[in-house]
Amino acid sequence: MNSLLKITNIKKNYVTDKEEIEAIKDISLDVYQGEILTLIGSSGCGKSSLLSILSGIDQASSGFYLFNKENPKIGYMLQNDALFPWLTIYQNALLGLKIQKNDTNENKEYVKKLFQKYKLEEFMDKYPHELSGGMRQRVV
Ligand SMILES: Nc1ncnc2c1ncn2[C@@H]1O[C@H](COP(=O)(O)OP(=O)(O)O)[C@@H](O)[C@H]1O
Ligand SMILES: [Mg+2]
Repeated sequence: MNSLLKITNIKKNYVTDKEEIEAIKDISLDVYQGEILTLIGSSGCGKSSLLSILSGIDQASSGFYLFNKENPKIGYMLQNDALFPWLTIYQNALLGLKIQKNDTNENKEYVKKLFQKYKLEEFMDKYPHELSGGMRQRVV
């Protein structure tokens, strides 16, 4: 069976003004359709770095990965949410649409429906600090 995702010899170094950090030494693995895979490792071993590369947020220093699918849909729940503390969670959720000048009534209704779906409709006017970590992640 062909793998859905093939990761081959990915390495990641972060270069800062002070040092070069070897975050991922060399990882290769295959992920198959329907498989649930868990990456386990101590803090700082490079798990988030790999996920950032696979989701396209960051680039590998070397190596490559291949999704055996055209336009794969990738959902990535970030460890830290990037909600703006001075906006309510509803305003946060609408921000992307607003910037794109696409905050039409229809889209606003859709966003409200998503808040219902994720059981957050009672909290739409709350600020991020008034929510639990799990609730904030559901907003993201
Ligand atoms: N943007 C960055 N700049 C410099 N170093 C980073 C950066 N992101 C992560 N690192 C370093 O890379 C290593 C792996 O980090 P990370 O992938 O976040 O680990 P994990 O998610 O497994 O805890 C750590 O040593 C961390 O300090
Ligand atoms: Mg992490």
